[in-house]
Amino acid sequence: MYHNWEDLEKSVIGCKKCKLCMNRTNIVFGTGNKQADIMFIGEGPGADEDRQGIPFVGKAGQLMNKALQALGIDRNKLYITNIVKCRPPQNRVPEQDEAEACLDYLRNQVILVKPKIIVLLGSTALKNICGQEYGITASRGKWIEKKGILYMPTWHPAALLRDETKKIEFWRDLKQVKHKMQELNAKN
Ligand code: URA
Repeated sequence: MYHNWEDLEKSVIGCKKCKLCMNRTNIVFGTGNKQADIMFIGEGPGADEDRQGIPFVGKAGQLMNKALQALGIDRNKLYITNIVKCRPPQNRVPEQDEAEACLDYLRNQVILVKPKIIVLLGSTALKNICGQEYGITASRGKWIEKKGILYMPTWHPAALLRDETKKIEFWRDLKQVKHKMQELNAKN
């Protein structure tokens, strides 16, 4: 556990805990507001992210940006990261040992950010954070509360590129996040 961002990021940059380190161009640590109330967690970097070292800059990320913008959610106010920090070959789903090797970094990021809400983008994020028993189809759109953090599972933006009908649900789920944040802010 690192108490500051510099040490944490340094340890991720040098990480060789799993085989994903062998093919990475850049690690994709995370981006955004380090004191964000809302954190977004995806699966793992794709080709564009690996090249630039920034999460969600490819096609799926651009689609997510459009939804955020239309809903009036400022991406710069969020903290965005992934389950694994290095690109899995051919964008395959991270294997269990890879996700587990990387999860301590993510837990450390959550401790440092202290978000009130975490949006889980897709099945990999949901299962690794909330438990393997959760399925994205049944869980999306429903709040899960754990240790004082509210989790909103929703579709991964890449799923919206494959199936347009999911866009409406994604939009609805993000709207719930926006409203919940307004509700929490009104209480303080
Ligand atoms: N997909 C993800 O899960 N994360 C990214 O950063 C980009 C695409």
